[in-house]
Amino acid sequence: MQEKYIDETKQGEAYAIAERKGNTKKLFLESYGCQMNFSDSEIVASILRDEGYNTTLNVEEADLILLNTCSIREKAEQTVRMRLSQFKKQKETNPGLTVGVLGCMAERLKTRFLEEEQLVDLVVGPDAYRDLPNLLKETEGGSDAINVILSKEETYADISPVRLGGNGVTAFVTITRGCDNMCTFCVVPFTRGRERSRDPFSILKECEELWNNGYKEVTLLGQNVDSYLWYGGGPKKDFAKASDLQKATAVDFAALLEMVALRVPEMRIRFATSNPQDMNLEVFRMMSKYNNICKYVHLPVQSGSNNMLKAMNRQHTREEYLELIYEAKKIVPEIAFSQDMIIGFCGETEEDHQQTLSLMREVEYDYGYMFAYSERPGTPAHKKMEDDVPAEVKQRRLSEVIKLQGELSRKRMSGYVGKVYEILIEGTSKKNDNQWKGRNSQNAVCVFDKLDGQKIGDTVSVFVYGNTQGTLLGETV
Ligand code: SAH
Ligand code: F3S
Repeated sequence: MQEKYIDETKQGEAYAIAERKGNTKKLFLESYGCQMNFSDSEIVASILRDEGYNTTLNVEEADLILLNTCSIREKAEQTVRMRLSQFKKQKETNPGLTVGVLGCMAERLKTRFLEEEQLVDLVVGPDAYRDLPNLLKETEGGSDAINVILSKEETYADISPVRLGGNGVTAFVTITRGCDNMCTFCVVPFTRGRERSRDPFSILKECEELWNNGYKEVTLLGQNVDSYLWYGGGPKKDFAKASDLQKATAVDFAALLEMVALRVPEMRIRFATSNPQDMNLEVFRMMSKYNNICKYVHLPVQSGSNNMLKAMNRQHTREEYLELIYEAKKIVPEIAFSQDMIIGFCGETEEDHQQTLSLMREVEYDYGYMFAYSERPGTPAHKKMEDDVPAEVKQRRLSEVIKLQGELSRKRMSGYVGKVYEILIEGTSKKNDNQWKGRNSQNAVCVFDKLDGQKIGDTVSVFVYGNTQGTLLGETV
């Protein structure tokens, strides 16, 4: 399974190497949280490469340590605080070392970070990365530096990200930033600001460059990709076809998908995340029309209960959600879905919980990301509602939901058995050096024995003969 959120109890992921000859300074950059943060880190590395920094995986040799942080749940923030404390010694022995915090925690805590964590010299919010070179000059002069100004326009459209953690095969391409939705539990609108869509030409260009550099799969990223909307003209030469140009007066997500599908016709295209309220059937029609758009949607629902959906300010009902899934399956019969669930939100009753379980059974998700509700300071839920489900009840319900998802995953995976799938090889299986690991269009992970002549980045036909809860077992045909 592709890990969408890095387990919050684990350390963040430090990235491999962004190098430029002649650069002498060393940056240790670690990312926490969602895919968007990982993608942002690639922008940061790109900006700092122009400032003389190469990245390093060895924190000991760093001149600059940056943590790109997550605020989504309390645990995510605790993990970062713990991590920061580990740099204390290094900072004492190397006074020239600069430690900075980027991303959502920087945005949420602002100057409090500098006050609370003596170790931190630099605080930069998600829309202020272009200012990093100036801010670093301030820290070099010995003072703390901060920029947490949110923007209504910034999309970093012109910055070519350096591809960091990757396998050279799959890459993220950001298409929207921010979120205007105000789900009552969620801190994201406060930490990432207003929603804005990136110029489609720059998206097409980035996808094309990726293809030319050997990449085989892109994931179009946004908090809410389905509300992508871009107005305006743009240079004609940027369009592959006249029909692209016609669409370009106003490009919505379905139109963007089509443009990308046509521009890089052999590239696999995925996207995340979809919000049920903004999804329209046109997106599924594009999926069915273009073979290179993967038949998989991550469609968070958060709860199966209408009472909870209302309290969460989700703009759809259980019935509307199920209708969407039903229609989608009609258009794309082989489609797979995954979910996000919040367990034990304010006022959640046993009946609400049962509704969540029953919705999961109806949809039969391939997999899911399930979390106990964590109250976030400043959110509408924190201000107006009571976090009243006792911790042990949350945990019990959470384990029931996780257990059910396990059963559903196993069932869904067994549904792939006996068929042949096109698997894009992404790397070697973690468990067995003699096996490849890749995914089918539905995003199910498949492992199979390596054969001579196969390499990372190849797409191969694989017969699936068995499965575990989360993995398909196959052999090349
Ligand atoms: N639209 C976003 C959602 C960001 S938050 C996206 O693209 O992923 C990711 C998930 O974290 C949400 O879907 C929700 O299930 C979970 N989440 C958000 N706030 C939470 C909170 N306060 N407590 C527990 N889980 C939360
Ligand atoms: Fe958060 Fe809801 Fe937006 S979950 S990111 S406020 S769609």
